[in-house]
Amino acid sequence: MIGTAAMPEAEAITFRNVSKVFGGVHALDAVDFSVGAGEVHCLAGENGCGKSTLIKIITGVYQPEAGAQMQLFGQALPQITPTLARKAGIAVIWQDLALFAEMTVAENIAFETMLGNRPRRVNYAAMRAKAQAALDRLDVTLDLDARLGTLPIAQRQVVAIARALVSDARLIFMDEPTASLTQSETDALLAVVRTLSMRGVAVVFVSHRLAEVLEISARVTVLRDGKLVGVYPTAGMTQSRLTELMTGKTFDQVVAARDTLANPVVLQVENLSRRGEFADVSFSLRAGEVLGLTGLIGAGRTELGHALFGMTRPDAGVLHLNGRPVSLRSNREAVAQGIAYVSEDRLALGLIQPQSIADNTVLSVLRKVTGRTGLLAADRQRDLVAHWIAELAVKIGQPEDAVSTLSGGNQQRVVLAKWLATEPKVLILDSPTVGVDVGARAGIFRIVRALADKGLAILLISDEVTEAHMNADRILHMAGGRIVGEYDPRQTSIAALEAAVYA
Ligand SMILES: Nc1ncnc2c1ncn2[C@@H]1O[C@H](COP(=O)(O)OP(=O)(O)OP(=O)(O)O)[C@@H](O)[C@H]1O
Ligand SMILES: [Mg+2]
Repeated sequence: MIGTAAMPEAEAITFRNVSKVFGGVHALDAVDFSVGAGEVHCLAGENGCGKSTLIKIITGVYQPEAGAQMQLFGQALPQITPTLARKAGIAVIWQDLALFAEMTVAENIAFETMLGNRPRRVNYAAMRAKAQAALDRLDVTLDLDARLGTLPIAQRQVVAIARALVSDARLIFMDEPTASLTQSETDALLAVVRTLSMRGVAVVFVSHRLAEVLEISARVTVLRDGKLVGVYPTAGMTQSRLTELMTGKTFDQVVAARDTLANPVVLQVENLSRRGEFADVSFSLRAGEVLGLTGLIGAGRTELGHALFGMTRPDAGVLHLNGRPVSLRSNREAVAQGIAYVSEDRLALGLIQPQSIADNTVLSVLRKVTGRTGLLAADRQRDLVAHWIAELAVKIGQPEDAVSTLSGGNQQRVVLAKWLATEPKVLILDSPTVGVDVGARAGIFRIVRALADKGLAILLISDEVTEAHMNADRILHMAGGRIVGEYDPRQTSIAALEAAVYA
């Protein structure tokens, strides 16, 4: 262990010597972890370093290897089950939130606590009062009667947090809660976390956005390859220092942009419009170019990406691919034309979770490599998988393992591997680093740059202005469904670009 911060006055939980082995992989190796009462504590580290595994052990989902010492609120426990953890006051906001879309806000927050008493006569007035009290403790206003399914994800998260409060949580785990939130939603969530802490509820927060980690927490526990690096106060900590602790390496922040305007145009977009999504979009994407497309969430970037990939049909406008007009009626046609699309939502569109890593990697090349027989030669499959897994440095157990056993960032690399195996001409990357740690981001962009150098035309959709600035040759700014600006990262500072986008 490299460093230790001053301990808070009272410990909420103390874990010592926690190890977990999955089929030979040491997901956790003799890790110590403790959180103070009412503390906001961040858990940081690269993809696959063991953050989620540690959370699952503390909440009784997984059992640690023998030798672990576990204390919840001063009480030593030989074993933790999910029920025991919940009764002790520990709650987890899982990424799927585990809420009921058909039920109202009030029901989602307080229904469960009312069930024990009289299943057939729910006291709605008492339930609403309970739900309101929980929301009040968070300083949040929500319509108690709104159906949960109608609310944006950020508000559903608040509902999940309020539900935890109703069951008297004293420590709440949030595993990457901001991964799919906009900047203003993230700000609102961080405010809720601060309120929780002020009211004495501790929060353990996992995020790959380091600015956020440093802003919200008092201390950060850093893991690397399943081992504890140290526990650090965030006061005086910088992003680059934290990155170094997480990865053991240093990273240069350099602008990668080059001049690609002389390269041949691969994709020409003229006055593309789709009602309610985007309007009059025109740009050209050249061979060997990384074209950034940035803007606030809701600007229409993803919708444009969908249309370029044939998932939706534009109402007006023309697409030219290598000088020939094309009309894409389906994503199958887009793939046949050499367009690949890495979705921002890998869980919904990118991967088939229960299937093996090997099958996911070759999914999109199936038709290409099967020929007419429809059968994929086993050795051809093995070769392709081995090639891209090595190329992208995916950290896996066996190619036969289910994709769901991979860490988030490694799943993202499998998605990329899957599309690269189609040998595309145009690669659309929609928020390729959501949930990917800072070290892996650098790795992904090294790959992106190498692909561009081989002549691939790449459209990089990103809401992280810094990411677009560092990695694109040119940047388009989209707002309200239209392209409203074009920037050269070599002539525009990050600050100026941020000012334009967040104006
Ligand atoms: N159920 C499982 N079966 C097999 N291996 C697993 C399982 N769960 C986790 N692992 C492995 O344990 C290691 C730690 O994974 P974990 O999900 O805890 O990482 P993480 O720090 O949460 O990463 P990320 O930031 O990508 O979410 C990884 O190598 C992962 O592949
Ligand atoms: Mg995780």
